[in-house]
Amino acid sequence: MSERLTKTGARNVFYGGSAFFFAIFLGLTAHSHYYMRTVSTDESTLTEAVARGKHVWEKNACINCHSILGEGAYFAPELGNVWVRYGGRDDPDGARETLKAWMAAMPTGIEGRRQMPQFNLTDQELDDLADFLEWTSRIKTQKWPPNDAG
Ligand code: HEC
Repeated sequence: MSERLTKTGARNVFYGGSAFFFAIFLGLTAHSHYYMRTVSTDESTLTEAVARGKHVWEKNACINCHSILGEGAYFAPELGNVWVRYGGRDDPDGARETLKAWMAAMPTGIEGRRQMPQFNLTDQELDDLADFLEWTSRIKTQKWPPNDAG
């Protein structure tokens, strides 16, 4: 019965298959990295303020309630596109003011509505945060989130 899979044959399938898919995996990893550096991320506008804004985001653990580009908690709205929802593409100053007003108005105390704490951020922190959210809104996410509300 020459069609039977021999031990050597099985081993070759195993090693060959593993090597083949490992090579594909490496190729995809390299491609993701390349895509991130050249297409999805705009490094030229990645300023100090954007980096500081990301620290404000991390220090205050906004991600404990919010998601950003789908990552995080689902208690509160997605914020990767909040800049766009605030009209920041056409009116960046307006979006910045809206964000500041929102942060200042928290918590609303409205009965039956989920609440967001007051973080007492400084004006500098708020500006950095706005820069971070504006920059994040420009990342090419391949249409994530699927709808405006996140
Ligand atoms: C304890 C949970 C919690 C944390 C932590 C939190 N938020 Fe929120 N956030 C909420 C909730 C709940 C809402 C929605 C409130 C509403 O609609 O009345 C919200 C809404 C928002 C909105 C408005 C979103 C929209 O679509 O209009 C912004 C902007 C925002 N949060 C920014 C932040 C930032 C920046 C941080 C970190 C500094 C943060 N949040 C941390 C709970 C949280």
